[in-house]
Amino acid sequence: MIIAVDGPTASGKGTISKKLAAHFSLPHLDTGLLYRAVGRQVILNGGDPDNPSDALTAVSFPDELLDDPVLRNEATGSLASRASVHPAVRKALFERQRAFAEQDGGAVLDGRDIGTVIAPDADVKLFITASVEARAKRRFAEMEQRGVSITLEEITADLERRDARDTGRKDAPLVAARDAFVIDTSELGIEEAFAAALEAIETARAS
Ligand code: DC
Repeated sequence: MIIAVDGPTASGKGTISKKLAAHFSLPHLDTGLLYRAVGRQVILNGGDPDNPSDALTAVSFPDELLDDPVLRNEATGSLASRASVHPAVRKALFERQRAFAEQDGGAVLDGRDIGTVIAPDADVKLFITASVEARAKRRFAEMEQRGVSITLEEITADLERRDARDTGRKDAPLVAARDAFVIDTSELGIEEAFAAALEAIETARAS
């Protein structure tokens, strides 16, 4: 079973995906991490993420980079968003994601274009979303816990910029697949959101 999970930053898609993977004993790929590694590698190379050629060169990042905690920072998220605009970068990362989706037994993948581009054949597609306010508050609490000094206003502005870039780009924009179940987590706790995801999966498998 392939489960595709898409949605904007801080919607809860990562947490839901991890819980689904554990529940169904499936491997999980956070595809945002690949784009984050590209964004980070561009800087390590002294390049510019807005430059298509610099961004493409950075696709050859070493695998160890995926474990670097710096990838979790807001700043790296923005670099990833900028680098992910370039079609050549998306193309270069396609096979790795597709191979993960096609492995025996299935997989859970989360990102922005899983249900639309990477695995349009997924058995279940979920689109996890939430209001900007709810997402900013969540991200703020997460940053506070990690001791990162950033204001709610800065986080809100960053989320809005990223949303606009991710949904506005020409190649593989962030959009719910036609056959995706949309789950709005603005008013939901983690367990409630997970229950809604399980229910959607049951419905999809029964049809
Ligand atoms: O999910 P995330 O915040 O880790 O993703 C970081 C950026 O990477 C996101 O703003 C856009 C890009 N991304 C993408 O274009 N396609 C994906 N499948 C996953 C992430």
